[in-house]
Formats: sequence, structure tokens, C-alpha cells
Amino acid sequence: MTDEDVLAIVQCGDPILRRAAEPVDPADLRTAELQRLIAQMRATMEDAPGVGLAAPQVGVPLSLAVLQDSSERWGNLSEEERAVRERTDLPFTVLVNPVVTPVEESGLAGFYEGCLSVPGLGALVVRHRAVRVEALDERGEPVDRVLRGWPARIVQHEADHLAGRLYLDRAEPRSLSTSENYARFWAGRPQAEAAAALGFTLS
Ligand code: NI
Repeated sequence: MTDEDVLAIVQCGDPILRRAAEPVDPADLRTAELQRLIAQMRATMEDAPGVGLAAPQVGVPLSLAVLQDSSERWGNLSEEERAVRERTDLPFTVLVNPVVTPVEESGLAGFYEGCLSVPGLGALVVRHRAVRVEALDERGEPVDRVLRGWPARIVQHEADHLAGRLYLDRAEPRSLSTSENYARFWAGRPQAEAAAALGFTLS
């Protein structure tokens, strides 16, 4: 990774984050331009650091996202918090033209999340615990897998970006917290305590 590979992250308020991304022509995955974009998105995600990044967040209106999660990004999460979030390693993954469908019987889970395009804030979002992802990878090969827990949350968050949605659209408004106040009041605490103290319902 070189400094020039790290792209500026588009911040909320920019209309590109509110438009549905255009499908990628699979033939374009063979071009140096698109491979360079994927490398730059990976470098930008790692630099941030973040666990996912969608192309519109770097100003490119294409249906393409990169994802990655591993222990060095788990910060101060205790073993118990990690377990309840089902936060597991997600190797670097490229999703092109993803279609994400819920695995309905998996149920729902509500946790705080944030977004590189909405810095300094977090809010509780209820999402499906498991989803099926159909997409192409960076070589144009089909991807069809079921993701559970935190990786499923990341995929849903990135698929929302590609549909012009931000996590705030789905968040419990009364849960909204600065990162500082999340660390001060709610890190390491059950979500139910935040719900009771801030006045929202955990579904
Ligand atoms: Ni985001």
C-alpha cells in the first residue's frame, strides 16, 4: 500500500451516497482500472481502519464493495461481547453486484454500528443475523454464501450503501451516540441497558 492508494472517503450529505449504484459489467473486472480501484478501496478501508467500504464511498457509483474483519479490529471487545456479536474473522472479500437476502429463520440482532461516511457517531441497528450473498468476486467468479453474525451485519451495511441507504436510515434514533459517549456509557454494557437509559425499545 502506498499513500497515493488511500482515497478520500465521501461524507454524508454528498448525493452519491443516496443514489443506487450502477451494476458492474463483469468484463470490466479484467481491466487494470477496475483492479486498481479494488486495490485502492482495500488500502482505504485498511487505512481508515474499517471493516467494509462501498465504491460510492470513494466517489465511484458502481455496485462493488470490499469487506474484511479480523481480531486487530475488535478493539476493546471482551470475549463475551465478541461472542454475543458473533464477531468472527472475515477474510478480505470483494463483492461485485451483490444481492443480499435474509435467512429469515436466523432472526434479528440489534447492535451499535458506525460508518466511515458518518464519522464520530454510532447508533443501534437491528439487522438479520444471517444472510445469503450472491455476487461476483474480483475475478468475476460467482460467489454464493451464507454469512452469519457480524460478517452478515457488514454485508447488509455495504449492500445498503449500494442501494443509496445509510445505516442511520435503519437506526433506532434515540440510540444515537457520539463515539466518545459510546465509549463512556455503553461500551462493554448490554444493549438492553442503553435501551432502558436512552428510551428505546430493543426488538
Ligand atoms: Ni458505511
